[in-house]
Amino acid sequence: MNEAIAKSIDLSGRVALVTGASSGLGAHFATVLAQAGATVVVGARRVDRLQTLVASIEAEGGKALAVAMDVNDKASVVAAFDQAEAAVGAVAIVVNNAGVADSARFVDSSEEQWDFVVDTNLRAVWRVSREASARMIKAGISGSIVNIASILGLQPGVSNSLYATAKAGVIQLTKSAALELWRNNVRVNALCPGYFETEINRDFFHSEKGQQYLGRIQPRRLGQMHELSMPLLLLASDAGSFLNGVALPVDGGHLVQSL
Ligand SMILES: NC(=O)c1ccc[n+]([C@@H]2O[C@H](COP(=O)([O-])OP(=O)(O)OC[C@H]3O[C@@H](n4cnc5c(N)ncnc54)[C@H](OP(=O)(O)O)[C@@H]3O)[C@@H](O)[C@H]2O)c1
Repeated sequence: MNEAIAKSIDLSGRVALVTGASSGLGAHFATVLAQAGATVVVGARRVDRLQTLVASIEAEGGKALAVAMDVNDKASVVAAFDQAEAAVGAVAIVVNNAGVADSARFVDSSEEQWDFVVDTNLRAVWRVSREASARMIKAGISGSIVNIASILGLQPGVSNSLYATAKAGVIQLTKSAALELWRNNVRVNALCPGYFETEINRDFFHSEKGQQYLGRIQPRRLGQMHELSMPLLLLASDAGSFLNGVALPVDGGHLVQSL
């Protein structure tokens, strides 16, 4: 491979933090960032799972650290950054991946569902990004924040109004932060996955309804984890040095529909 191309995705010497790394996409993103050379701080509430992930990254020759982190708790977020900084240095790459889903018809959705879905998927992205960018600016380092939105942030879906609203908010938050943070050499972009099987949707995609749904959408299949690897690295690394404030769908063309 051409040396300049390989160097552009090389994250050696950088510290990356992934929220919600205890399962699904987050565990994959952490593994990919470590494979690209970053020291990866993996955060979530289920620390036992994070420790298993750290062991698997280390077994491959990567560097990782597990930190307990509840993104809905400011003190927990601050403590996780403090712990990361003290152990491995200032965080330069943040992947805001922690997320939850709770489907309901619009008319049936409740106050509790709004708080649960919007707090974790949107407010916490603001909280973690704000904390991270303030620290990057203080440390005088350039940074990259990658917010994991969804194609539902770009197009609504039945029974997903709260989730889609929160993810649309993540995309506008991404652009708003990008508009201000470029002066501090911090880029902020959003990755908008289509459907990938994880704990968040496994039951649905194993159901008959889920299978029928897959038969109707443009790629006629779920995405595979590795299909998110290079899009993530593009946004996180210097390969994407001229990308700022974008929302990148990775969905096999699911969003592209004929009228
Ligand atoms: N799978 C898809 O098809 C798909 C498509 C588009 C977007 N996404 C987005 O991708 C992200 C990852 O989802 P996934 O599919 O990988 O789901 P998942 O397997 O259920 O993982 C969700 C992760 O979020 C963490 N989390 C939830 N609440 C948290 C909190 N309060 N504090 C810290 N961590 C928290 C969970 O960790 P703990 O419970 O251990 O804290 C878990 O690691 C989400 O933002 C989701 O909306 C997924």
